[in-house]
Amino acid sequence: MASRGQYELHHPPPSLPRRAAALSEPGEEGIACVSPFSPAGTAGRRAPRRAVRFAPGRSLAERRLETVMPASALMNVMVGAARKAGRSLARDFGEVEQLQVSIKGPANFVSAADLRAEEIIHAELSKARPDYGFLMEEGGTIAGRDASHRWIVDPLDGTTNFLHGIPMFAISIGLEREGQLVAGLIYNPISDELFAAEKGKGAFLNDKRRLRVAARKQLADVVVATGIPHRGRTGHKRFLNEMQEAMQDVAGIRRTGSAALDLAWTAAGRFDGYWERNIQAWDMAAGIVIVREAGGICTDLSGSDQMLAKGEVICGNLAIHKALLGVVGDPPPEPHPLPVND
Ligand code: IPD
Ligand code: CA
Ligand code: CA
Repeated sequence: MASRGQYELHHPPPSLPRRAAALSEPGEEGIACVSPFSPAGTAGRRAPRRAVRFAPGRSLAERRLETVMPASALMNVMVGAARKAGRSLARDFGEVEQLQVSIKGPANFVSAADLRAEEIIHAELSKARPDYGFLMEEGGTIAGRDASHRWIVDPLDGTTNFLHGIPMFAISIGLEREGQLVAGLIYNPISDELFAAEKGKGAFLNDKRRLRVAARKQLADVVVATGIPHRGRTGHKRFLNEMQEAMQDVAGIRRTGSAALDLAWTAAGRFDGYWERNIQAWDMAAGIVIVREAGGICTDLSGSDQMLAKGEVICGNLAIHKALLGVVGDPPPEPHPLPVND
């Protein structure tokens, strides 16, 4: 564990400079007529009162004032798939006790609802983007003819909550282009909250609100989320050590049972930060884009950009990310020994 306050990022925070650069790119023109959050069937119709005009050379500050997500064909596809699968999940949630469930491994249940939702997402995304590949929790890897694009999908994040009738779960859809995460969507069909972001375009909640990470700077003031390893998982001892450190420093720690929602809520400023080890690419791909587009920092527990490869993530605003990393992150690497001259 890193000694408190001594942690330095190995790399510059990945999102902010890139994002600022992307936001100030000139030459983007057009009129966004309809929010991609529109319920299925209304996207594509003109809605002049919601129009957002893009003009080349608009400043970052001007774009920050936008409260409606810029329309995009990509986001329409993602929202359509998530809403359709969400209707299926919501129906099944209503009958959760009647669901047939199968056991995939210790304490890792896969419900019929989960599989149905994944099939819907796969079918909808494939219809719109037939060449893209997939990485899905249930279906695994499906190579696409277009090797540069890959959907990363968890059709039901928060399975244990779902099976216990706790309305805290979500669909998570991320998109990777050339190995970079470029779009993310997280949808809780029970609260009807849809968090979404495209790289360089900001992060949004439904049609109403541009997301920003919380501004608190002191660990003493923050509420952070984490995941607790349970039966069938590794890392219990390490988690207890991390908890022991973190609980002395922060105002509160929460465990929601959905990594995707932990990230979405961090983007929305409800949580000030979040960390978890031993999670999967589909748990976090979408959320990483959303947190970054909300102005937050996401890294692995060493402060690098290897979250998906290492299966771990830590995030927050610049100050909280750094402080939390200092408490629960990996120790900074040993300095290289000086060459010995004889
Ligand atoms: C789980 C949730 C949970 C996290 C676990 C994940 P699932 O995903 O995201 O919050 O702590 O590590 O496996 O199984 O509900 O899709
Ligand atoms: Ca998951
Ligand atoms: Ca899942």
